[in-house]
Amino acid sequence: MLRSRQSAKPAARSTAVVRASGASALNEMVPDRSKRTTMNWLLVGALGLPGLSLAGPFAYFLFPAKSGGGGGGIVALDALGNTVTESGWLSNHKAGDRSLVQGLKSDATYLIVSDEGKLENFAVNAVCTHLGCVVPWDSNLNKFACPCHGSQYNNQGKVVRGPAPLSLALAHMDIADDTVSLSEWTETDFRTGEQPWWA
Ligand code: FES
Repeated sequence: MLRSRQSAKPAARSTAVVRASGASALNEMVPDRSKRTTMNWLLVGALGLPGLSLAGPFAYFLFPAKSGGGGGGIVALDALGNTVTESGWLSNHKAGDRSLVQGLKSDATYLIVSDEGKLENFAVNAVCTHLGCVVPWDSNLNKFACPCHGSQYNNQGKVVRGPAPLSLALAHMDIADDTVSLSEWTETDFRTGEQPWWA
């Protein structure tokens, strides 16, 4: 018994020494407060910067910027997909001309050259309001005449003969730095005095 008590004491002492040296080593491994603060900021930066770099594309996806061009609309494109410019268009399209560009929602849309040889500040959507055929311009009739079921629209796109129930939709035409753009027409339809059915 005596022998065993004597042998137990050194063991307990050595355990205490090990614990003490372990705690000391642990204390040496734990950085002081200022180092911890620095490391925390580095961690925030390491996680935050990639997060911010992803936030940009997500924000662009959720809130896409409108296409360039005057009036905040879309740039009108010609049949080849090129940007329509006022100078280029008027050099090839004379007074009274009504020719198609790619407009809002990619719909075929007429730019109208006035009798004075300038672009009108409105454009006419070419999609027939009956069943959706693209309505050609007939310069002999001075009307848009739909080949599908015979509807007709005057030279501003106001319906004058059915079965089409409504006039052709309007869009605003704006010019900025020679570039032609189209944007939504949400105001009263000046041809009918009514609210726009397409808005
Ligand atoms: S689609 Fe134009 S008249 Fe029917």
